[in-house]
Amino acid sequence: MEHMQISLDEVENDFQPWGNLDNREFYEKISLHGFLELLSLSGLTKNQDVVLISDHIKNANSILDIGGGFGRIINACQQLGYKNDLATIEYTNHYAEFLKNNFKDCQIVEDDFLTYPFNRKFDLLLMMWTTISIFSPIEQKLCFKKCAKLLNAGGYCVIDLLISNACDEAKANKSKEYCFTDQDTGVEHHGYVPTTFEIIQAAARAKLAVREIREYIAGTAARCLVVFGFKISLN
Ligand SMILES: C[S@@+](CC[C@H](N)C(=O)[O-])C[C@H]1O[C@@H](n2cnc3c(N)ncnc32)[C@H](O)[C@@H]1O
Repeated sequence: MEHMQISLDEVENDFQPWGNLDNREFYEKISLHGFLELLSLSGLTKNQDVVLISDHIKNANSILDIGGGFGRIINACQQLGYKNDLATIEYTNHYAEFLKNNFKDCQIVEDDFLTYPFNRKFDLLLMMWTTISIFSPIEQKLCFKKCAKLLNAGGYCVIDLLISNACDEAKANKSKEYCFTDQDTGVEHHGYVPTTFEIIQAAARAKLAVREIREYIAGTAARCLVVFGFKISLN
């Protein structure tokens, strides 16, 4: 009976034990101090990620920072002398409020990146500090589709990944699902660190191709920034 042949892969792919919206409570409840501690653990306190892509920032006329947090990226862009159009989308209320109060020159959207109906496009989309990992595997594919929809022709999309995954685990084609609990609030945070291959595949489905990979060290962590642009059509 042909119609009964559903592969195990299909069932597994459809099963979503958690999604990005489940992580919202973690960000709503974590204190600014806790958030900064996480930043310190990730080794990004000197904004090395932003400095590495300063050429892309300086050449852009419009930037969207996806998941603005407490404005680290906005602040770093401004410190680099970026004065053009800067927007961020943040779904956690108290971070969005913080951003609205502290970055009056920026467009702050308090909403969910995946569902918010933007009515404009950008030259540069930034998904830093492993923000892609906050989305489930299926949602990560949707993130790339959304990025492709929001990107101007000739624009770039930059995502940050942990390189240990990018190298060792990707070679073994292993991805990494994780869950940790904030000690103060008891709230769980789920994540899925994709392999480089998965990222490239998801981007390719959205007609985006890797333009460059910049490896760097932040604190004790080896990380990489993957820069995507539209695939060049030969037609
Ligand atoms: C790891 S932090 C990164 C913050 C900032 N981009 C940085 O690099 O410092 C992830 C941020 O993304 C926000 N976020 C996660 N999923 C989101 C979504 N679907 N829409 C909007 N914001 C989201 C979280 O609330 C959190 O502030």
